[in-house]
Amino acid sequence: MVSPVTSAFPRSHVVDAFGRPLQNLRLSVTDRCNLRCSYCMPESNYAWLPRAELLNFAEICRLAANFSRVGASRIRLTGGEPLLRQDLADLIAMLVTRAKPTDLALTTNGVLLADQARSLRNAGLKRLTVSLDTLQPERFQAITRRDKLGQVFAGIDAARAVGFDELKIDTVVVRGQNDDELAALLNYARDIGAELRFIEYMDVGGATQWTPQAVVSRAEIIERLAGDYGSVRPLGGRGSAPAERFELPDGTVFGIIASATTPFCDRCDRSRLTADGTWYQCLYATAGLDLRAHLRAGRSDADLAELIADTWSMRTARGAEERTQMEHRGVFVPVSALRRQPHLEMHTRGG
Ligand code: GTP
Ligand code: 5AD
Ligand code: SF4
Repeated sequence: MVSPVTSAFPRSHVVDAFGRPLQNLRLSVTDRCNLRCSYCMPESNYAWLPRAELLNFAEICRLAANFSRVGASRIRLTGGEPLLRQDLADLIAMLVTRAKPTDLALTTNGVLLADQARSLRNAGLKRLTVSLDTLQPERFQAITRRDKLGQVFAGIDAARAVGFDELKIDTVVVRGQNDDELAALLNYARDIGAELRFIEYMDVGGATQWTPQAVVSRAEIIERLAGDYGSVRPLGGRGSAPAERFELPDGTVFGIIASATTPFCDRCDRSRLTADGTWYQCLYATAGLDLRAHLRAGRSDADLAELIADTWSMRTARGAEERTQMEHRGVFVPVSALRRQPHLEMHTRGG
């Protein structure tokens, strides 16, 4: 049963218990990654999803099509590192024809992008976000434990040459790690015609080194940039997007995603499907719905769409907001629990 729609949101969307529509679907296509970023995968060993349990392309498309039927027609492919999924461009082409997304974007670390940018674009990918936390090779090695900054720059160059509808750079700001590079990263993004977003370091599953002190808040980012550039003007008009956008005196536009200090839960319309078909309605959710089991049990499309709609209509999640209200805020999920339940990792449920 699809619940009634509040006047604030379009009619075609199922809404949750707080009137938030189901709109953005983040599809994680693999839990593997070829980097080990300190804020996401700082450990030396990880428990991976069993390969036999991963959804195949036809299954991903079938689920995506049913999500789309109840409103989630904006798709972002994530990982782990999505470009590690074999034949990703084929999946994109299949998604375009079978799920007919109204938006199709991808978040990558850029390492494998130089080889794949053209085929991704040709397959129908519209928008691209590349994660980039530093412009310095030694620092890149220190943050990611891999010496691959050159490959990331080559990937970004290839993406520019191909010409996506939109190119964004995502930078997680960690105190003492890269917070002295805000202006340098902003200048780089401006020069290549990309929109940069600074992301507050979040206490998500997998961030086992998180401390409140390591967070460089939105307020501090703005203060520092105002010192560098003179003024930072808020642009407004954010809607349900996680990023607030700002403009510098020279017209450069950038975003801040302040999920650690100023969450956007009240407007959050996003959910996540892991590579093995578990559906999470919040980044901080500790339990998800095993859609693969329903799919492989032979449920019809109508049943799947109804299950998705019913589950969303009961959603009350406000994970990031709840974290901000905690008196003593520390690591969200201890390493021992992550070992037992890799689904709790950010790299499993999509960064
Ligand atoms: P657009 O489609 O371009 O608006 O993308 P986006 O703004 O959703 O950006 P992207 O998907 O690249 O997400 C950027 C970052 O925002 C993530 O890596 C997270 O740090 C944060 N973020 C994304 N989704 C969520 C969410 O559901 N909850 C919270 N709290 N933060 C999120
Ligand atoms: N805090 C904020 N963002 C994170 N990501 C992963 N871990 C974190 C974290 N602890 C997001 C970033 C990164 C993408 C791969 O996942 O946006 O660029
Ligand atoms: Fe949405 Fe949960 Fe993130 Fe809040 S914490 S913005 S409810 S996914």
